Formats: sequence, structure tokens, C-alpha cells
Amino acid sequence: MKKLWGGAFSESTAELVDRFGQTIHTDLNFWQEDIIGSVAHARMLGETGIITKEEAQTLIDGLEKIHEAGPEALKMDVEDIHTAIEMKLYELVGDVAGKLHTARSRNDQVATAARLMLHNELLIVLDLIKSLQGELLAQGEKYKDAIMPGYTHQQHAQPITLGFHLLAHFWSLQRHGHRAEQLFQLANYSPLGAAALAGTGFPIDRHMTSTELGFTAPIPNALDATSDRSFILDALHVCALIMIDLSRISQELVLYSGREFGFVKMADSVTTGSSIMPQKRNPDMAELIRGRTGRVIANWVTLATVMKGLPLGYNRDTQEDKPPLFDSLGKVKDSLQLTQLQLASCEWQLDAMKAATRGDFSTATDLADYLASTGIPFREAHEMVGQVVIGCNDRDITLEDLDAATLHAINAAIPVEALSVLKPEDSVRRRESFGGPGPKAMAAQIERAKAIFEERGFCSIA
Ligand code: ARG
Repeated sequence: MKKLWGGAFSESTAELVDRFGQTIHTDLNFWQEDIIGSVAHARMLGETGIITKEEAQTLIDGLEKIHEAGPEALKMDVEDIHTAIEMKLYELVGDVAGKLHTARSRNDQVATAARLMLHNELLIVLDLIKSLQGELLAQGEKYKDAIMPGYTHQQHAQPITLGFHLLAHFWSLQRHGHRAEQLFQLANYSPLGAAALAGTGFPIDRHMTSTELGFTAPIPNALDATSDRSFILDALHVCALIMIDLSRISQELVLYSGREFGFVKMADSVTTGSSIMPQKRNPDMAELIRGRTGRVIANWVTLATVMKGLPLGYNRDTQEDKPPLFDSLGKVKDSLQLTQLQLASCEWQLDAMKAATRGDFSTATDLADYLASTGIPFREAHEMVGQVVIGCNDRDITLEDLDAATLHAINAAIPVEALSVLKPEDSVRRRESFGGPGPKAMAAQIERAKAIFEERGFCSIA
């Protein structure tokens, strides 16, 4: 295997050593960013007179040709992407290719390419978050009046609406967008020109390459620049958080599409069948998102474990930073799109959702609230409604079945007007506190969500 080093070696490395160290296949994920970093470096070498302007132009032309030819034209029997590109450059422009690596090391090169790649990938992730939010917002508005059970402890708690539920996911995605944008800012500093660890004696201009590559500024300390991988840990963390929330949406789709709930039907295009049971329609994509969340969480743990206790200066261990990053970003991008596809295909069974609130005692709090509004302390009202629940259970009836006589028989102190607050629709209608599912509160929430959605980026989270 051809190397970029070896001058001081008298025999070639063992085949297993080559194979164990090779990353060219996963490095293809950032081949473009590696070229872009090299172009900026070559231009800077020319501008500062470290090489001639003509030499710099030759290098840049060669790099652009490599870019046009694409990764298929690169040799794969090499250690990494940096080697593959430099060897191709030799083929195209001859010995001057050897000048590209002046005042640079693969240590600053790889850190630069990784930051550029993360930058580009985050832009895609941010777009996909917005897009999924658009779906949630549209359906949130469409179903703002569709009654469904609201759950705590996965038991029926209080009636809510489907729109209210879907918008809850909108806001969690907004925070992920916000986090990803902050990480974007935090990672946007240039390691290029840090060289191996201690800078260089050549009169390079790190500000020039930083600006050309769109970074905010060069990282002030060359040793830090080549050693830091916290930006990748940040990215892995954000990926894990996004997947955790997508796994929760997934779990809801799995549950709600099951027979016991029957709240939703998903289209054939996003579900799968069984090889033995002809009647089956399985929510495999939701299950896979839920399942793959484990790997994305593990990717953070993987790199955190690599970095723990690692002394400063480049260590080959950090080569292990990229496979988890590529893996997590890939899974997040797919999962965001798949979640949107599934949601877009949902046929919500509004009658079944509403029917599920019947007889579930989920307006018991409304009854207690009513009593409290007449001046009875809430704790006392809670006790009284507890008796009503027992009274109903004893008679095998639900809250909706209560009539004046039965109520009186259970507890004569409860005024008969209390019976007017027991409908789920009315319960939702009264919940007008800020952030509640009531019609006015929801209208305000939708208006705010729309305004935030229209903003560029994710600066607001409320
Ligand atoms: N493939 C390496 C990585 O991803 C590139 C840097 C190699 N540097 C070195 N001194 N061996 O980290």
C-alpha cells in the first residue's frame, strides 16, 4: 500500500497493519471537504509567497480536476482520503504536488475537513428538521379540534386534541434546531495551519484560510486545534437527542397504529407486511428508528470513551471519531425524513380517538375544578370527586352516565350544575391557560409556531 510517509522505513508494513489502519472507505464521506481545505491551503501558500503563485494555481487546477472526476477516480488501496487525493494530484500535475503539504500536516488537515463536513451536514439536518416541523405544524392546525385522550403514566389522564399533541413534537424539534445551530457556531473555527501540533516556521496566514473556508476565526492554539474533538461529541450528542425524540414519535406511531388503539392508519408505502401472516401491516420504519436510536446514543459513548484520558497532541485513537459521526448523521437524516414520510401518510382515525375518551373518567379533574371554582378548597374537591369515581364504579357507570339523582345519591353536597362540565370537548375548550389545548390558547400557539417557523434558522425556542 502506497503511503505519504516511509522515507525512514527500511521495510514495508505488514498487510494486517495496513488493513487495521485504513480508513479510505469511510473517509469518502468527506472527500469534497478535504479537497476544499487543500484548495484554500494552496492558495494561501501562493499568496504568502511560500510557493509561487503559478505553483499554487497548478495545485488548485489539479485539485479541481480531482473534484470534477469524483471519488470513483481515486485509488482505494491507500491508507486514507488525504493519501488518495495527494496521489491523484501527483498523477495530474507531477512533482509540484509534493509542495501542497508544505506547512501542513494530516493532523490539521483532517480536523479541518471534519469541521467543514460537519458544517455542511448540519445545514442538511437543519433543513430536514424544518421540513418535519412543517408537517407537524400543518397537521397540528388541521387537527386542532380533534379530541383524543391525553396520557400520563400511559393511562388516560385528561382529554386533549391531536393538534395539541402534534405541536408538542414541533417544539421539541425547535430546540434541536436551536442546539444544532449553536453547535454549528461553536464548531466553526479553523484548525488549518496548526500543522502537526506546534504550528510552522513558514510565514503562513491562518486568518486567510480561515476566512476563505467560511470559518469564524482560526483556533488560537495549534495544539488545541489538532487535539480537540469536542465539536464531534457535541454533534453526536445533538444527533442522539434528535433520535431520542424521533424514537418517542415512533413509539406513538407503533402504539397508535395497533389494534388496541386504532388511532391511525399508515400507508402501504411506509409499512411492511409479514411473510407468514397475510393480514399484517407492520410499522417497521418506526420500529427501526426506535431501535437505531440505541446505536446513535452509543456513538456518543464510543467517542467519549476514546477521548477520555487522551493526552494532548494528535493520537491515532482520534481516527475513531469519524465513523460514529458519519453513522449518526446518516441515521438522523434518514430518520427525520422517514418520520415525515410516515406522518404525511397518517390517516388519523378521529372517531376512534374521540371514542377512546368515552368512559375514561378523564374529565374528573374538570369536576374537581368546578367544585373548587365554587369556593371549595381543591384538596376537598379532589376527595369529593374521588367518591364520585368510586360511586360510578360501584354502579358500573361512567362519568358521562351520571344523572342528577345518582350524583345526589353519591354525594348530596355536589351541585347538579357540576354535570355540565363532563364532556371531553368542553374540558378541552376550558383549558385556555397559556400553552393549553383550548381553542384560543391553541390559536395563539399556532400563530407563534408559524411565526417561528417562518424565521430563518432556529433562534427562538418559545
Ligand atoms: N486518518 C487519520 C485520522 O483520521 C488522518 C490523520 C493521520 N495523522 C497521522 N499522524 N497519522 O485521524
